[in-house]
Amino acid sequence: MQTASNPLREGTSNTRPQPKPCALVIFGATGDLTHRKLVPALYNLAADGDLPPGTAIIGFARRDKSDEVFRQEMEEATRKFSRQPVQDELWKSFAQNLYYHRSEFDKDEGYQALAERLAKLDRESGLGGRRMFYLAAGPEQFEPIISRLKSSGLNEPGAEGGWSRVVVEKPFGTDLPSARHLNDVVSGAFHESSTYRIDHFLGKETAQNIMVLRFANAIFEPIWNARYIDHIEITAAETLGVEGRAGYYETSGALRDMVQNHLIQLLTLVCMEPPTDLGADGVRDEKVKVLRSLRPFAKPEDVARNVVRGQYAAGAINGKSVPGYREEQNVKPGSQTDTFVAMRVLIDNWRWSGVPIYVRVGKRLPKSAAEIAIEFKPAPHILFNRDAEGGANVLVIRIQPDEGVSLRIQSKLPGAALRVEPVKMDFQYGASFGKASPEAYERLLLDAMSGDPTLFARRDEVEQAWQFVDAIEQAWQAGEGNAPALCTYPAGSWGPQEAEDLIERDGRKWRRL
Ligand code: BG6
Repeated sequence: MQTASNPLREGTSNTRPQPKPCALVIFGATGDLTHRKLVPALYNLAADGDLPPGTAIIGFARRDKSDEVFRQEMEEATRKFSRQPVQDELWKSFAQNLYYHRSEFDKDEGYQALAERLAKLDRESGLGGRRMFYLAAGPEQFEPIISRLKSSGLNEPGAEGGWSRVVVEKPFGTDLPSARHLNDVVSGAFHESSTYRIDHFLGKETAQNIMVLRFANAIFEPIWNARYIDHIEITAAETLGVEGRAGYYETSGALRDMVQNHLIQLLTLVCMEPPTDLGADGVRDEKVKVLRSLRPFAKPEDVARNVVRGQYAAGAINGKSVPGYREEQNVKPGSQTDTFVAMRVLIDNWRWSGVPIYVRVGKRLPKSAAEIAIEFKPAPHILFNRDAEGGANVLVIRIQPDEGVSLRIQSKLPGAALRVEPVKMDFQYGASFGKASPEAYERLLLDAMSGDPTLFARRDEVEQAWQFVDAIEQAWQAGEGNAPALCTYPAGSWGPQEAEDLIERDGRKWRRL
């Protein structure tokens, strides 16, 4: 939110000074992320006057191309994916600071040449030895890149008063051992305070607003606990399928792709205790405590009882036929990859004891939407509509689209009869602030340039989340007999019947988004 009274903004974007310009090196510059998200985000920062003038963006990749060709490709991509229309003049000045550096990821010479190029930019553009290395290449390249950044000395500030930071894209490992290993590799070259593990959900305005909603409004905190809250639902639904990313997705699945990071991050923001301050560690300490309190799935039977995994079969989305997951390009014919996960999670601490948190994520669902619904317990004494169901208050935080917050309350239907109906009090970002929210990557890139890691995952956070998720993966891999079955659901449905059964066993129902 862009209001002056938003405490999250104190000392951050609105009031903090613009960071000094730096050299931003993007590894994997010819990849999808750079085209769709990173360069458009940087252009939008420039368009809003937030990108420090002189910031140099250096695309590092294996293919042979000139600066000029790289600029043309980036212009095309930005015109296609930018939040705001591209203005010719602005693009021209932005593109002057775009460069291309060709090298293999594992060849020392490429890094020596990069070091020379950065030193020259320091001298000519006054970048002061400030360097940010963004790992947007395939995860198998992370280790070779980091070790060469170290051996070429690029992990050190380029000059006195400068700095060197690394931004690591997901997936951050594929399980706890690999995440620990990657953490060791990163920490061998960069201090934790210079390490930015990105989770783009944390950069979404609506995710940032969770803390503001909870801690800047005195009315919610007293009832934000097991005494008043019946259950919580967190949903991230997408109509998209695997979209040509099967190479990655086949090794990941919905659990690792979305739950281990994005969904668990949202859960921590909803369930954390108020932090002592809004410093990076104040907030992240509280989030880690939530992760430590997640009740682990100790036995495969716990997983079978509380987690449903699904895979989409052929079906229709908005009237258009779409193939099943196994028919998608590069997916193994008998693939066991999950494209849907529903689970029931408990947090073992005083605040949340006994409150189920239902988490649901899936591809090829009927609608693209992410939301958190806090369902309160019903009024203790029912005076009105005794037979009516669904009378409880529900606070819904709409992460996307139609960003906002709504509260369902009971109201008297106008007329002589005393009839009570649920109505919604609704806050919409668009209507209240009259402007589109920036893209998550804009905020996160600027935070990393400013040296603010609050919205990035800390080492212990990532490892705790893997530990929780690994128990589920292990149960799934445990072999035919024990593994909870992979259920199928037609594309365009809300997931397998088993997901409905999971919540209905508790006498509840998933919300229809
Ligand atoms: C990414 C996942 O992290 O998040 C994708 O890898 C998913 O599979 C995407 O589609 C969803 O993010 P958003 O911001 O588009 O909702």
